[in-house]
Amino acid sequence: MPVKLFSLFLIGVLMISVLLFWDDNPVTFQSLESQTIDGRSVYNTIAFYSNSKQDVWMMNQSHHGVNAQAEQWDRLAIVVDKSTSPNEVLFLQLPPGTLQWSDSLISQGIDNKVSCFQCHSNGPRLIREDKENSKLSINSKLKILAWNLRIKSYGPLKESPLQDNSFTAETTPFRHQAKIDNEILAVQSCTKCHHGRDELLARNPLTRQNSLAISFMMQNNLMPPLGFSVSQEDKEQIQRFIQGL
Ligand code: HEC
Ligand code: HEC
Repeated sequence: MPVKLFSLFLIGVLMISVLLFWDDNPVTFQSLESQTIDGRSVYNTIAFYSNSKQDVWMMNQSHHGVNAQAEQWDRLAIVVDKSTSPNEVLFLQLPPGTLQWSDSLISQGIDNKVSCFQCHSNGPRLIREDKENSKLSINSKLKILAWNLRIKSYGPLKESPLQDNSFTAETTPFRHQAKIDNEILAVQSCTKCHHGRDELLARNPLTRQNSLAISFMMQNNLMPPLGFSVSQEDKEQIQRFIQGL
């Protein structure tokens, strides 16, 4: 399908789902991609708030099962500032709590438990539930579909000047700074879209510290997207890149 027609189709689906199913309720699911260090399931509850200036994505995440105590859920947020071009994005690890947004939370960030940039090279990530174990209602599935269209439509996002990238020997940086961690994956089957220029469906360049996300996408045949291909030679180059060669 030509790109323009496809975009119109996506916008159509988005509008229908917004009209029929929109409410502010969060959605809880078992993540397909995120796992605990010892390979157990991770549960996410995501809420989305939007006004003319900003989109706010909030998430509670449990590494201790879906019935964990409230204080065992990590609280995270991603704020997309839509008043700037390109849009700027701010990541926050917050003290445990409810998924109610207020701008005062921007100054309440605590130390990152993990380096957000490792997986979030372009702001919010597409939401992929483990379909077998999540058993979501139609309403929740349509909500995720609409949210994902929004996430795909941002284009390349820029790091917010408010992003705190300071860290000590005991804390985790938002983004690793070493040169080797920031080398760019220069493989044509990926840089077609992951180049950072403002184009439809484009994303930020991928770096070596994004290897975990790159591997997940390749192993699950999610990247390159449907209709695009990756040569054997490029696959091998990506493998070498991930290994640090
Ligand atoms: C190991 C990879 C990984 C790391 C590290 C990570 N995230 Fe995520 N995050 C994801 C994935 C994948 C999703 C999409 C939900 C899903 O499919 O499970 C997500 C979703 C989110 C969402 C919901 C909106 C969206 O992007 O879909 C927020 C908010 C969020 N992450 C914040 C953070 C913050 C803040 C940090 C750092 C403190 C962080 N994340 C670190 C993988 C990661
Ligand atoms: C046709 C454009 C296109 C091509 C080609 C492409 N991607 Fe992507 N990629 C996207 C879009 C759009 C997203 C966000 C939506 C999603 O996750 O499906 C994305 C997301 C990703 C992410 C998650 C980080 C992010 O930006 O959200 C990784 C990792 C990734 N792609 C890896 C790859 C790799 C590796 C290749 C090459 C083998 C590749 N992609 C080729 C368009 C593309």
